[in-house]
Order: sequence, then C-alpha cells, then structure tokens
Amino acid sequence: MKHIVVIGVGYVGLTTAACLAELGHHVTGVDMDEGKIVLLRQGQIPFIEPELPELVERNVRAGRLNFTTSCQKAMQHADMAFICVGTPPTPSGHADMSQVEEAARQVALAATQPLIVVLKSTTPPGGNAERVAAILASHLSPGINAPLVVNPEFLREGSAVYDTFHPDRAVIGAWDSAAAEEVAALYAPLRCPVLLTDPASAQLTKYASNAFLATKISFINEISRIAERVGANIHAIAQGMGFDERIGAEFLESGLGYGGSCFPKDVLALSAIAEQQGYYSQFLHAVTDINAGQCSLAVEKLGDALGGFHGKAVCVLGLAFKPQTDDVRESPALSVISMLCQQGAVVQAYDPAAISTAQKVLPPHAALEYCADAYAAARGCHAVLIATNWPEFRSLDWSHVHSSMAGKAVMDGRGLLSPDEMRGMGFEYLAFAN
Ligand code: UDX
Repeated sequence: MKHIVVIGVGYVGLTTAACLAELGHHVTGVDMDEGKIVLLRQGQIPFIEPELPELVERNVRAGRLNFTTSCQKAMQHADMAFICVGTPPTPSGHADMSQVEEAARQVALAATQPLIVVLKSTTPPGGNAERVAAILASHLSPGINAPLVVNPEFLREGSAVYDTFHPDRAVIGAWDSAAAEEVAALYAPLRCPVLLTDPASAQLTKYASNAFLATKISFINEISRIAERVGANIHAIAQGMGFDERIGAEFLESGLGYGGSCFPKDVLALSAIAEQQGYYSQFLHAVTDINAGQCSLAVEKLGDALGGFHGKAVCVLGLAFKPQTDDVRESPALSVISMLCQQGAVVQAYDPAAISTAQKVLPPHAALEYCADAYAAARGCHAVLIATNWPEFRSLDWSHVHSSMAGKAVMDGRGLLSPDEMRGMGFEYLAFAN
C-alpha cells in the first residue's frame, strides 16, 4: 500500500485516484478548484462518467480516498505524486505546460520525504520532462530526492474506469530505473504489458497513439469521399477492411469526424512538435484538414437537399463529442450547429446528457433552441441531423418522428440508422457514402 497524491482531479486525475484507491492505496486528490473539492467531498462527481460515482463513493467511505485543495497537507507521507493537470493548446497548437510546471513546483515545495513524481498529463517531448525534473530538483528541500517518471494515460472518456482496470498497456518512461520499476509495480494487479523506456519515447508514444487513431478516422472519411463518387458503400468497405487483423475493425466509422479533448489537440501538438524541430508534417495536417471538412460536407449535403437553410428548421440530435459523456469540447455537433445558424437555419437541439455543458460553450443565438427530448426537437423541423451516435437515437420511433416533421430529410452524420428502413418510412436519407 502506497500513499499517493494526485494533483488535478479532472477526468484523468479523478479516475486515476479512484482506481488506485480501489487497488488498496491511500490516495489524496488535490485540486485548486475549491468548488470541485467541495462537490467531491459530498460524493458528487463534477462530470458524467459511468461507474466513477460509485467507485469514488465506495473508496471515500472506506477511508482510502480523500480530497483537499491543500497540496501541503496532501503531501505529508506521500510516496508518489501523480501530476494529472491539463495541457491545453496555445493558439499556435503547442501544449501549454504552465499547469504541469506549477504542479511540479508545488509538489517539490511540499515534499517532506523522498518520493516518485509521475507525470500522467500529456506533454510534448523535446525538453519538457527535463524542465519538470529541473523544477522538482530546484524546489525540493536539501536531501530529498524525487525522480520523475513519465506514464501517459490512454483512457477514453465514457469508459474511463473500465479502461483503467483493463489497460492494453502501461508505458513508463524514466531516467531512474528503480523509480520506473516502482511505478510498474502499481500495474502488476492489472496484468497488462508494461513497456519500460526513456521519457521522450513515452511522451511520443502517447501522441503517436492518438494521432494514429485520428488517422484511422480521417482515412475512412477520405475513403468515404472516394466511395461516394463511385457509388460504393462505406460501411461495407470498413467491414471488409476491418476483418484484416493488421488493420483492425475499430476506429473505421465514417461520419462527422473526431472531437473531444484529446485527438484534435494532440494531432495539432504533434504537428507543432515536428515544426519546432524544423519538420513540416504534411501527413498530420491532412489528418486535421480532412476531419475539419466533414462537418462542412454534412451541412452542404443537407443544404442541397433543403434548397438552402433560410426559413428552414433543423433538428440536431447530439451535442456531446461522443455518447456516454456530457463533454462537448471540440464536439463536431457544435461546429455543425454554428454553421447551420450562420446559414440561416433555426436549430432545435437535443442531447441526453450534454445540454447544460453545450449551453456554457455555445453563444446564445436567437435561432438556437434546446429541447427536452428528441421528439420535441424534431417536431416541425424540415430536417434532422444526427451529430452524436447515442444508442437511444437508433431506437426512436422514427415513423412518429416522420409524421411530426415539416420536411423529410435526415442527415445521418454518424451512420447510426439503417438507410433501407429510413427510406422505407419515407425519409430522404442522407449520409456519407451510403
Ligand atoms: C481518445 C483515445 O481513444 C484515448 O486512448 C486517449 O487517452 C484520449 O483520447 P476519447 O477522446 O475519450 O479518447 O474518445 P474516443 O472514444 O477515442 O473518440 C474520439 C472521437 O473520435 C469521438 O468524437 C468519436 O465520435 C470519434 N470517432 C471514433 C469516429 O469519428 N470514428 C470512429 O470510428 C471512432
């Protein structure tokens, strides 16, 4: 059993803290956002994530997990400190390291005994791990040693707890091999492959993994543009490709493209890392450009079907960047809504979880209304656009939707519905290469 401090209790930090506590460690989550800490102490989670509320509650009750705003208090007896703060993009696409550097400074100032500092935040190689190690060294009291270990996180939102307990691998990058072994030991109960490497390789593995997954999505979207022109079906193509184990069936769903807090930011950051070293990655820029183009394509298709958007009402189903989350960061749904409003449409939007988060981000617009359910959102509309693949949109009573609409167009931006069934019901069904 270790005493572990987790700095930053967002998606990654809170999940890490709760899962480490569940494995038997004594964990303290630290965040400077007092509101967040108050909520957590009351057993409330500041965002939607399956399984996490129960896990937090159970471990708080068992006395293995607690929360504070004071790094100083948390650091008493700490054997390990996990840095899980954000590295948001700067306007030039670089990762902003200021929160990581401040966390390192606070950990070092508060350390009262030797400990291992684990960097979970996604950070670019090329000097950042070195800089964090130097910040630690220069703020620690004399005689206290705190080796840095880079241990990137690969969990997905919406299945964060499952992913943490069933990782495909742990990547551990360190200069100090004893510290690396101690971090590796944390993963032993999870029985996953553990890769021990240097910090720069660990950092780049995270960017390369996310960029590769984003590439799969942009690749299938590029193929769907070609498929459409030759009358081929993208779902059949993706299935046919996916049977090849070297390719794999996942991340080949064409549609509005990727969003979220990781893929867009990490592909941009990897381009920026390359450019900083004097290399322009045409490939990574193409991945981003193809992704950005998907929303415009969907809006264009729908506009063609409706003869323009002026005087037209469009129902947008889905606001979150993917199902099972209320996260709307970089959500394609929000881009689509902005484009529709700009082109003169009235938008009636619905999402099972993300209306309040969307309201905080999207500027209020006279032509944008949030609705209580999918049926209310579709009522009176000339078209429906499916922006997030929430399973509940598949099981709507679509014939009821059909009879309540003023028009019959459906743009299925996530390939969620059966084209034959929808056309059979009288919809003008639009999708990418379908
Ligand atoms: C991702 C990585 O999967 C995870 O390993 C990393 O740690 C963080 O980034 P996440 O952002 O939670 O996780 O979402 P993910 O499930 O990977 O989906 C990202 C986006 O890609 C979503 O907008 C989703 O709709 C889109 N997507 C996914 C597609 O458009 N097509 C696909 O085939 C798969």
